[in-house]
Order: sequence, then C-alpha cells, then structure tokens
Amino acid sequence: MPGNNNAERTYIMIKPDGVQRGLVGDIISRFEKRGYKLIALKMRSADEELLRRHYCDLTEKKFFPSLLAFMTSGPVCSMVWEGLDAVKQGRQMLGETNPLNSKPGSIRGDYCIDMGKNICHGSDSVENAEKEIAMWFGEGEVQSYVQSNSVHIYE
Ligand code: RTP
Ligand code: MG
Repeated sequence: MPGNNNAERTYIMIKPDGVQRGLVGDIISRFEKRGYKLIALKMRSADEELLRRHYCDLTEKKFFPSLLAFMTSGPVCSMVWEGLDAVKQGRQMLGETNPLNSKPGSIRGDYCIDMGKNICHGSDSVENAEKEIAMWFGEGEVQSYVQSNSVHIYE
C-alpha cells in the first residue's frame, strides 16, 4: 500500500558462494521468521552488463575485476522482501561488508570469513533498493498480496 511504512522493499541476493554452500534455505528462513514478506524470488546467472549497473559505484575500484569474476562464477538467488524498515534491517541481518567485523547471529557473522566471499547482498538505501529491484526483476515478477499473518507481526 503506498504511504504504508510496512511496504518498504529491499533487494536481497544470495551470491554464488551462498548458493553453492547450500545457504539459500537458511537465508530465506531468517527473513521469513523475522516477519518480512517475500514478494519476489528467482535464480539467474548474472552477466557483466547487469553487474556493472548493479555495482555502478564500484566499477573503478581495484577489486572490481575479482568481484565481477566471482559474481559471474555461478547462479545467484534474487529476492525482494517487504516490511517495516526492510532496507536497514536487511543490512543488519546480513552483517558487515567484511565478515570479520560481523557479529555472530548475522548471516555473514555466522557463515563466512573473507570479504570476497561474503554470501549475500542487501540494498543500502530505499532509493537503491527500488533501482536494484527494477534491474533484477521484470514487470510482473514482483508480487502484491496481503500477508495474512501481518496482524501478528505488526501492532
Ligand atoms: P553488498 O553490496 O554486496 O551487499 O556489500 P556491501 O554493500 O556491504 O559492500 P559494497 O561496498 O557495496 O561492496 C560490494 C562487494 O564488493 C566486495 N568488496 N571487496 N576488497 C575490497 O576492499 C572489497 N570491498 C568490497 C564485497 O564482496 C562487497 O560485498
Ligand atoms: Mg553494496
């Protein structure tokens, strides 16, 4: 519903390492159990063109070629989650960019060690979330439905 804070959306992506390590189910489960609403989900292999748009602020960085090689090394799992404060809370659930700085209980703090193999991506602002959702999903791939248990999640 427009104007409803509970309708904030974030783009969460399980990177090729997370898919290979069988962490898709766990990561989906964490967002589901928290109370967020899954409104889009698919697997795909990302190409260079899409990743250059997704990481447009990083293309000049020294690590970009290795990030690109990693992100095209296998399929990713793309998701859109909706709910109150979804962008910020999603980032907190992921942990810090560097897993070594991530607290236990976060996805990166529980499952990984190296920055270049940090399992998952989460949008860093509402504006970027909307851009990323439009980049990774087509028209009609994002669902709109009433979360029937929302009365038990929100006051
Ligand atoms: P993400 O976009 O993947 O959720 O990660 P993030 O916002 O926490 O970090 P960002 O600055 O957007 O960087 C994207 C990904 O690039 C890799 N990275 N490597 N070697 C380095 O200094 C470095 N910095 C970033 C990480 O895999 C990071 O998640
Ligand atoms: Mg980022």
